Order: sequence, then C-alpha cells, then structure tokens
Amino acid sequence: MSEDFVLRTEGLKKWYKIGGIFSVKGYVRAVDGVDVTIRKGEVYCVVGESGCGKSTLARTIMGLEEITSGEIYFNASPSTAKLLEKKGEKVHGTIVKYSELSEKGLRILKRDMQMVFQDPYASLDPKMKIWEIVAEPVLVHKLASKKKAREIAAQALEKVKLGEEFLDRYPHELSGGQKQRVMIARALSISPKFIVADEPVSMLDVSIRAEIIHLLKEIRDKENVSLMVITHDLATTPHLCDRIGVMYLGKIVEEGPTREVIENPLHPYTKALMAAVLEPSPENRKRRIEVPIKGEVGVPPERGCRFLPRCVLVDQIEGIRPMCSEKEPPLVGDGHKVACWGAKEVHS
Ligand SMILES: Nc1ncnc2c1ncn2[C@@H]1O[C@H](COP(=O)(O)OP(=O)(O)OP(=O)(O)O)[C@@H](O)[C@H]1O
Ligand SMILES: [Mg+2]
Repeated sequence: MSEDFVLRTEGLKKWYKIGGIFSVKGYVRAVDGVDVTIRKGEVYCVVGESGCGKSTLARTIMGLEEITSGEIYFNASPSTAKLLEKKGEKVHGTIVKYSELSEKGLRILKRDMQMVFQDPYASLDPKMKIWEIVAEPVLVHKLASKKKAREIAAQALEKVKLGEEFLDRYPHELSGGQKQRVMIARALSISPKFIVADEPVSMLDVSIRAEIIHLLKEIRDKENVSLMVITHDLATTPHLCDRIGVMYLGKIVEEGPTREVIENPLHPYTKALMAAVLEPSPENRKRRIEVPIKGEVGVPPERGCRFLPRCVLVDQIEGIRPMCSEKEPPLVGDGHKVACWGAKEVHS
C-alpha cells in the first residue's frame, strides 16, 4: 500500500439499528460503503444534502462510532506508530487498521487526529479559560506538563491569529468567529496529522465565514496537516478544497479535483447541486434545479442505483433503466470518478 495517504476507508459502513431493545426492525444505512483516500497535505471536502451521512462518516473516521463493516487505514506519525508498537498493537510500517486496534490503541492513535465541530458556542465549556480549552488535548494525551501546555496553547492561538491576551479569557468574552478560531487552535495544539471539520463555518455570520475558510487553507499550507471538511455550502468549495467527494444516501457518488467536479460535473445529482449554487439569478436557479432532479431524498433501494428514484438522466438514455434498477454503479474513473451507469465520460 502506497504511503502518500493519511487516511483511507474501504467499503466503510455504519448502519444504525431501528427498533426497540429486543427487536430490530431495520437499519438506517447512514454510511453505506464509502471508499475515500485523504492524501497527505490536502483538503478533501465532503458535500451532500442533510441526512446523507456526512457527520456519521466523520464520527466513524474519528473512532467515535463502531464500524459496521469495512476498514479504515490510518498512516500514523512515526512517534505514534512507535508508541502503538510498544504497547503491543499491530502496525504495518506506520499504517494501522482500525479493526486490528484495541480500544486503548485507538485512544493512542487519536493523538494524530482532531475534530472541529459545527457549533463553537456549544463546544466550549463556559467555565474553562481559553488556554485550558486549547491545551486540553495536550493534557489528555499527556504530551506536556501544565506549564508547557499553556505555552503550547499560546503558540496554537498565534496560529489562528489570536494573541496572548486571550489565554485567560472565558468563552463568553469571545465573538462567534473568535470561538471557532479557539476550536481550531485546540485542534492544532497536539500537531495532528489529520483534522476533520464538520460544517466549520455554517453557524457563523456570513461576514466572517471567508476569514475562517482562509485560515483553514493557511493551516493546510503551513502545518503539514490534511483536512477533511464537511460542508453543504458548495459555494465555499472552490476557495478551500483540493478535492471534492459528493455524498448521496451514504455513498460517495462523484469525486475529483474541485475545479473538474464544479466545471464538469458527471453525476446527475452533482449537476443538480451545482445548478442550484452556481446560477446567480434566483429566478433561473429555481427553474434549473427543477430540471435536473426530482422528488426528495429517501432511503436507498435494496438493489440498483440509489439515485434512480430522483434521476432524470435515466429517461434520456435509451435502454439504460434495467441496468440502473438492477446493479449499483461503482465509483470509477481516472482521478475524476463517478458512480453512474449513464455518465458518458467513463462508460463510453
Ligand atoms: N445515533 C444515531 N442513531 C440512529 N440514526 C442516526 C444516528 N445518527 C445519525 N443517524 C441517521 O443517519 C443518517 C445520516 O445522519 P448524519 O447526521 O450523518 O447526516 P448529515 O449528512 O451529517 O446531515 P446534516 O447535513 O443535517 O448534518 C440520518 O438519517 C440520521 O437520522
Ligand atoms: Mg451533519
């Protein structure tokens, strides 16, 4: 396995049981077979509408959810890999598989990854000083003494453009944008290899979103870290993302370099998303989105393409419907990938 990735999932599934304690009535297939690779030093954005499984994917990757099936590979930092090995965990070079790690091993691995949540208001403990919040991961992972941790917090705050005067303040003394900067500083405090940011700007005032996006990009450039950023706001992707993965009902249905996906979307779902975002006039936006998509998001069918109930392409290509109803299209292509039997570029 090539080592230029930080994280890779293979056939990753996270299903939730529906029903009571004693009877299972079915499953919510929140993440339903995701293959993604996050490369070293890139910002990979996951886009898709509400309920498609973005946060579940993030939480599963962060080791906060038990995996239903599939595998996650993580390319750990040399020091973490060494520590894992010392503790008797299975390590392949610097790569570990989640399925092979004990609970304790997974806890150790978490020193290489951090998460930034959507709501900075809810994620900050009002009784803690800013430096304590920022330094908490350092202390949890026992990476430094309390005195040193405060210094680390000051350095991390500097990286998010907050001065030392913030160290002894409390969360209620900060604006929304400053709070999210604190959360980003907290994530940076342990110098992780990988940060997952789940809708990091959606709770913020529109006027400060651009600053935070710019900051995340700067961090990517300066901190030797890879980011997975979840967003439903496609308009932010060209400014931030190196690659985009479009998620629909638990699966990635299109993936590629940001520009290519935006300028030449191949999947009918991506086309609909793009049409809604990129059409400047609200009048036209309404008209265009009605054309490429129908109905609302539902549950994935047992067989065939999960987008079929909403697809308009299927009626435009003669004789394709039986294939789409029977067989789930794989995510294929060279660089720019799509999971659609009707996408000309990959199936011609
Ligand atoms: N703990 C849980 N138990 C049962 N079902 C869950 C649980 N967490 C999420 N789900 C379901 O899994 C699906 C995916 O949810 P998820 O929160 O991952 O979506 P999302 O793409 O992050 O949506 P949003 O954009 O609204 O944040 C939804 O149908 C949701 O109801
Ligand atoms: Mg979510």
